[in-house]
Amino acid sequence: MVTTQVLGGDAAGYAAAAAIWRAGGLVAFPTETVYGLGADARDDRAVARIFEAKARPRFNPLIVHVASVAAAQAYVTWSDAAETVARAFWPGPLTLVLPLREGSALSPLVTADLPTLAVRVPGHPVARALLEVFGGPVAAPSANPSGRLSPTEPGHVLAGLDGRIKAVVDGGVCPVGVESTILGLAGDPVLLRPGGVPVEALEAVLGRPVGTSGADEGLSAPGQMRSHYAPGVPVRLGARAPRGGEAMLGFGAVEADLNLSPAGDLTEAAANLFHHLHALDRLGARGIAVSPIPEQGLGRAINDRLRRAAAPRG
Ligand code: TXA
Ligand code: MG
Repeated sequence: MVTTQVLGGDAAGYAAAAAIWRAGGLVAFPTETVYGLGADARDDRAVARIFEAKARPRFNPLIVHVASVAAAQAYVTWSDAAETVARAFWPGPLTLVLPLREGSALSPLVTADLPTLAVRVPGHPVARALLEVFGGPVAAPSANPSGRLSPTEPGHVLAGLDGRIKAVVDGGVCPVGVESTILGLAGDPVLLRPGGVPVEALEAVLGRPVGTSGADEGLSAPGQMRSHYAPGVPVRLGARAPRGGEAMLGFGAVEADLNLSPAGDLTEAAANLFHHLHALDRLGARGIAVSPIPEQGLGRAINDRLRRAAAPRG
């Protein structure tokens, strides 16, 4: 057990966080999507601590966070398609999977020995400042115990990882609220995980369709296990009303215990998703019934997370 410090999103907080990273420790920090659990991506022991703190299977690779396109290019083989989407969406909620450069100096634990690397330039001002001050690549999965709901505020991080990490930098509530979109660009463009950038927007910028990699097989990205984001109670999707003892998570003009967006706005719904699931989980209801969500734009990312939350545990 360590005492987990809460650091401010200010110069003193950034300096303290960077010092912990340099010493091989773990610091959770805000991004525009969810809080990440960061470590120096070049330090084997530090990266190993991420897997330990989260009880994450070692075969599940991590996203590396960097401050700029130039920094990303040091670790991956760049391409025209990468340039196109990076120009359009970085900094922002998009992760690119590209061929790993030889001699990249990253810990092999980061990529779980795959020949590709997932990399992104986050847009949150606190994440950007931290990366600048640290001056190196930060490996960071979402800052939750493996298989549980992702954290969108410091309280969620502490609820799952207090005493297991050195610090969390307080940047308030994450504005996007679902994880980054993961786009595979090692071959033809393929959507490995729907997320904060709608696939429609990627297709518009690339000028071509983006394939899907059989997400229903459950392992499009290695860590895309079918059961994930699991709250403590059963989740029932496409519900019109709650049944015996369920709490209702609404969308649109419906009666509900909590509503993702009474106005039916998908951006607002994404921002509220994990916050409301955490809150309903704490309520002690027998289950959570969720309104239908349209399968378009950010709705794809919301439905992906909800299907995994509803999947049989195993
Ligand atoms: O928004 C996000 O992406 C957040 C913030 C903290 O950046 N991070 C995040 O990390 O969601 P994590 O570890 O919870 O999810 C990363 C996903 C996993 O499903 C992992 O299997 C996949 O990315 N991934 C990582 N490297 C990969 C690779 N080389 N090829 C395919 N998938 C990869
Ligand atoms: Mg995660």
